[in-house]
Amino acid sequence: MINEYRHEPVLLEETVDLLVTDPGGLYIDATIGMGGHSRKILSKLDRHGKILGFDWDPEMVNISKNNLTEFGEKVKVIGSNFSNMDEVFKREGIINISGIIFDLGVSSLHFDKPQRGFSFKHEGPLDMRINPANPITAHTIINKWPYEQIEHLIRICGEKYSHKIAKAIVERREKKEFETTTELRNLVEEILPKTMRKSNPATKTFLALRVAVNYEFDNLTKGIQKACQFLIPGGRIAIITFHSLEDRIVKETFAFMVRMGGWKNVTKKPVIPAQEEIERNNRARSAKLRVVERTK
Ligand SMILES: C[S@@+](CC[C@H](N)C(=O)[O-])C[C@H]1O[C@@H](n2cnc3c(N)ncnc32)[C@H](O)[C@@H]1O
Repeated sequence: MINEYRHEPVLLEETVDLLVTDPGGLYIDATIGMGGHSRKILSKLDRHGKILGFDWDPEMVNISKNNLTEFGEKVKVIGSNFSNMDEVFKREGIINISGIIFDLGVSSLHFDKPQRGFSFKHEGPLDMRINPANPITAHTIINKWPYEQIEHLIRICGEKYSHKIAKAIVERREKKEFETTTELRNLVEEILPKTMRKSNPATKTFLALRVAVNYEFDNLTKGIQKACQFLIPGGRIAIITFHSLEDRIVKETFAFMVRMGGWKNVTKKPVIPAQEEIERNNRARSAKLRVVERTK
């Protein structure tokens, strides 16, 4: 059952309208997922236009290939981390691209499938790997990392009570290792009563683990740097982020590129979803889209 899970693409019209400037160009979907953004991009391309998609998760590679079969040779999906896009481009003989989209983070499938261990809403193993070949899991971090590293990780991901949480994790694991998402969630809920927060008290701890397990900030920085080298003048980079740390990296990197010259901002301020989209798809509530264009 390959299509048992659904993922509603976020800021779909807005992103694709701002991304596609040449209907005959080659576009890169750095995070193809279930192919929602790619399908929309393809609807804007002429007979010459093509998409090369990346996903680090082999399961998503199969799903997107399956979802986009009707487009035949107009789409190719590669199982790779987008931070290695230069190697893939070399192999594929690609030197120029007209646009690239990064729709960051994970797909609804990742959150909805308990065995992937991404969500505190389902009982599952402490895994959180986008690519199952990745050597590090959330289990490793929670059970093996020293207190200082856990505290720092959770703190930089915005958790005010990082000391309390890290201390409780380290004390608890001395008695028994953590195995499941529920065990971790229960511990955080014991220390931070639900009434203290609008969202679940474990939200930031889970986000921090996912970011670290998948080297998300490092991938993002490398992904932007590498994409820049292949964009033609007039080509654009569109990035959708879902939390403030990610957005800060994109904002500061784009600002630096514009200051250095050869790039201009297409979005002066980030584009955010309309209320109607947020009501339809709660996952869109924290999304921000930023776009830059190569000028020379
Ligand atoms: C938010 S989803 C993209 C959804 C997609 N735009 C759609 O419409 O279905 C993000 C996807 O990026 C993939 N991903 C995350 N980090 C990646 C990386 N560093 N390289 C390649 N793919 C990555 C995830 O596996 C996930 O499928």
